[in-house]
Amino acid sequence: MINLPYRKDLEHDLSGKQIMITGGLGMLGSTLAHELVRYNAKVTIVDACIEPYGANIFNVQDIRTLVDVNVVDIRDREAMKFLVKDKDIIFNFAAQVSHNDSINDPFFDADINYIGHLNMLESIRKYNPRAKILFSGSRLQFGQIEKTPVNETCPLRPKTPYALNKTAAENMYAYYYAVHGIPCVIFRISNSYGIRCQMKHSKYSIVNYFIRQAMEDKDLVVFGDGEQIRDYIYVMDLVEAFLLAAANNKVNGETFNVGSGVGSKFKDMVKSVVDIVGKGKIKHVPWPENYLNVETGNYIADISKIRKLLNWSPRSNLSEGIRGTYEYYQRYKEYYFKDMA
Ligand SMILES: NC(=O)c1ccc[n+]([C@@H]2O[C@H](COP(=O)([O-])OP(=O)(O)OC[C@H]3O[C@@H](n4cnc5c(N)ncnc54)[C@H](O)[C@@H]3O)[C@@H](O)[C@H]2O)c1
Repeated sequence: MINLPYRKDLEHDLSGKQIMITGGLGMLGSTLAHELVRYNAKVTIVDACIEPYGANIFNVQDIRTLVDVNVVDIRDREAMKFLVKDKDIIFNFAAQVSHNDSINDPFFDADINYIGHLNMLESIRKYNPRAKILFSGSRLQFGQIEKTPVNETCPLRPKTPYALNKTAAENMYAYYYAVHGIPCVIFRISNSYGIRCQMKHSKYSIVNYFIRQAMEDKDLVVFGDGEQIRDYIYVMDLVEAFLLAAANNKVNGETFNVGSGVGSKFKDMVKSVVDIVGKGKIKHVPWPENYLNVETGNYIADISKIRKLLNWSPRSNLSEGIRGTYEYYQRYKEYYFKDMA
């Protein structure tokens, strides 16, 4: 397992703080919760446990007595009014996370990814405007990529309702910061993967899905030649970036591209999974039309801004991240290898 070091420099800003994580039973939220507990933060988790997303109570099993878990939806106005009240920092990660599903049901996507986030911001404005809020946007907001690496000033040309609503939400965070002074930090995250991720389907976090396929000695299906380049970020690195952003008030109002900063060919990622797990068969098939339509081209995040302003760098390369993830699921497979509900 890859662990983050305990950072003395974060202690002052996190220790004893009231911190809320929405989507806190999912991969990113629960992994962040584990780190915050190490800093003696008082963690409140909010999660609606909606299928087919990554909520899993096992994700917080070993910190269950140290965190407050609320099964509640960010769209619930009455509940949010109460829950935001005493918080110092809010990580607003709750989301409909599937790019492709947003095409089939754009109302549902907008309801959570836009209206749900509006509800959070309005609750904060009315009942606790001093809280700092952090938003997990996506590299998909850039849409079709013309050249890599992609920095924060590249145009946003979202291709799906998921990316559109993340972009609208991002603008809304910027508005609440500019007009109402609510401190916020926005991340546009590349392809993330790692421990505590759902392993039920391939709708997002494809590296995890392939690790499961390999562990079950199944086909790892690659669309096309697999030459497309992606930037894979390990969840622990992402968590450290969020901790640094939360603790640093000089970056309020800033937007950051967050990724490993390294491009990997899709087919090389798949080969690494098969090599590390030692099982699984790679199979190439033509691109399905519904995936080809939303393909964005090669993506590599330019992480020079976050390196400079937060002094953050990823600690794990792709092989180390895949190995750490594989070892986790070897131990805890029974809690994750379910089929889709
Ligand atoms: N996984 C990725 O590759 C990726 C990439 C870029 C950005 N992100 C963003 O990062 C965030 C965290 O994603 P993750 O990878 O941990 O996914 P995840 O599915 O593991 O976690 C998302 C959690 O949000 C919860 N949720 C969904 N709707 C909710 C609602 N209305 N109210 C309360 N909780 C709700 C789900 O139950 C789930 O536990 C999301 O905002 C996602 O859009 C993820």
